[in-house]
Order: sequence, then structure tokens, then C-alpha cells
Amino acid sequence: MRVLGIETSCDETGVAVYDTEHGLLSHQLYSQIALHAEYGGVVPELASRDHIRKILPLIKAAVADADMTLAELDGIAYTSGPGLIGALMVGASVGRSLACALNVPALGVHHMEGHLLAPMLDDNKPELPFVALLVSGGHTMLVEVQALGSYRILGESLDDAAGEAFDKTAKMLGLPYPGGPELARLAEQGEEGIYRFPRPMVDRPGLDFSFSGLKTFTLTTWQKSDQTDQDQANIARAFQDAVVDTLFIKCKRALKETGINNLVIAGGVGANQLLRQKLATLDATVSFPRLEFCTDNGAMIAYAGAIRLEAGQTEEPIIQPQPRWSLEDLPAVE
Ligand code: KG4
Ligand code: ZN
Repeated sequence: MRVLGIETSCDETGVAVYDTEHGLLSHQLYSQIALHAEYGGVVPELASRDHIRKILPLIKAAVADADMTLAELDGIAYTSGPGLIGALMVGASVGRSLACALNVPALGVHHMEGHLLAPMLDDNKPELPFVALLVSGGHTMLVEVQALGSYRILGESLDDAAGEAFDKTAKMLGLPYPGGPELARLAEQGEEGIYRFPRPMVDRPGLDFSFSGLKTFTLTTWQKSDQTDQDQANIARAFQDAVVDTLFIKCKRALKETGINNLVIAGGVGANQLLRQKLATLDATVSFPRLEFCTDNGAMIAYAGAIRLEAGQTEEPIIQPQPRWSLEDLPAVE
């Protein structure tokens, strides 16, 4: 079954074709970073309009790249939530309409399920059951995955998501948007041990996270410092160390509490090199998606949609994006 996947939940237009027999056939991505940079963050209305501009050319390119025609598609999957409502509307409207024109089934995919299943795009697929650490700009969660489509949230962020904390802290330190990767780059120049920041909520039982206090702690430290370039790098390093340590401690605890020995990392912060290095030291099998599939992309949506469409899942032919949507409300695949 060949499925076209469309991702438009935020500031990336992603389109891909996934074949349930032969794997990923093609994927195309357009990032709106340059568009939003001058505003220091994503401007939702600009995001929607840009998705409209890019989506059809990207669909044509992805289908051509897969050496096929639109008529050879067997289904269409698009992100229907969570995300920015206007941006979601673009992918949902185009996906549904195209499916209607081609007379193939279409399915709305949960964006976080897409992230969570991104390591499945690899030749070495992680084995079930696994614990997933989902660390994106909008969510931080630990999820127990016993079977595809059956998700139990073990813990999540009570305030800022890890990516959001990276982005906001970067902005406070005067770094350009998007802050996460910039802050990570700067942290490499920081000296170890100059500052030590708190690891939030690690001394309490449970698997929830909270990064907003750490963000404030970083701001206060920055304001009290001489604000030299080296101070900036040292503070970035201390912040990154604290976030990575906290995620590491909670992952270790989640594996122990569930008795599961497979850990899957997904979401934009999964591209963070320090996090990847640190989690790789766990006494468990740890899987990371390819770097390009950590951040938003169409391939993960094509995959998540393909397994559900192949399992015969259907939906009413209506366009109904869900800006807020819990992973636990999804139906099991089998
Ligand atoms: O998954 P994603 O592309 O979009 C959402 O669904 O939110 O994640 C984007 C987030 C942003 O907050 C970005 O700053 C963060 O991932 N990010 C990073 C790195 N690369 C992306 N954070 C830390 N280190 C990185 N290398
Ligand atoms: Zn995402």
C-alpha cells in the first residue's frame, strides 16, 4: 500500500510517500524558519499562508521522486492534530480533497504518534514493547507502548515542554530563533562546572517534568552575570546539562518502573547531541530516529497513516483538525 503523508501542524511543510512493502519512497520538506525568524517565533497566520503556497509543489515533487503518479496512491494521511489550527486546516483540506478526487481513503494522524513511530522508518526497527521519550517543541512525555496504537502516558510536562524551554531560554540569552539548536551549539563552548543548575522534580517520585522554574533560574543567573560571551556559553552549557540530566533520570526511572528494556527517543529535542550521547549510556536498547526525522517531517505521518490504513481503519469524509488531542484517545491499530 502506497500512502502519501502530509505534515502541516506548525512551521514545516512535510510530504512523503511510504510503501508498506518497500518502505519510504520519497520525502520533501520545506522549513519556514526564515519566514518567522524576524518575529522571534512562529506567527500562526504566516505559517498557514506559507503552507498553502508550498503544499501542492511539494506533493508533486514527492510523488515524482517516488517514480509514480498521483493515481498510483492507495491512501492519504495528514496530520490532524495537535498543532496550530490554521496550519492543520491546510494539510487536512488538501489531504481530504485529494483523497476524494483520487477515490482513495484518507486518515487524520496524531502528530505525536507520528513522532513516536519515526524510529520505525529505520531498517533496524525498535522492538515492542518500548518506552518512548517524546521531546518536541510542544510536548515532553514518557509513553509506554505495548502495541502499535496503544499508548499509556507515564508522565508529561506540567508546564513548558523541553523544546519550548530550550527556545525560550535561548531567546533570553539573546540567541536567534529557532533557539534550541543555537543554544546547543553555544553550550559546546561553555566550560564545565562553572554553574550548576537544578534538575527539576528528580527528587520527587513520578515521571512528570517541569522546566519553567529552570528557565527562570537561567534568566536570573544571566542577569546577575557580567553577560560576557563566555558567561553566555557557560550558562547555555549549565542549562543544557540540567535538561539532559533530568530527561536521563526520568527515562531510567520509566524503564525501571515498567520493566521494559527498550527506549525510543523522538521529537525535535531528540536531535540534541548531548541527549543522544547520554541516553546511549543507559543499560537498555536505545533507538533514535535519523536526525532529519527527529524534527517535523512528512515521512513519520506517512508511516503512522500507512499502518492504520493498512489495518483497515477508516474515517468519515469530514475535515476536522484537532488542535488539542491526547495520545491516549487513539484507537489501537490491531
Ligand atoms: O518536534 P519538533 O520539530 O516540533 C514540534 O512538534 O514541536 O520540535 C521542535 C523543537 C524546538 O523547540 C527546537 O528548538 C527543538 O525541537 N530542537 C532542539 C534541537 N533541535 C531542535 N533542542 C535542543 N537541541 C537541539 N539540537
Ligand atoms: Zn513535532
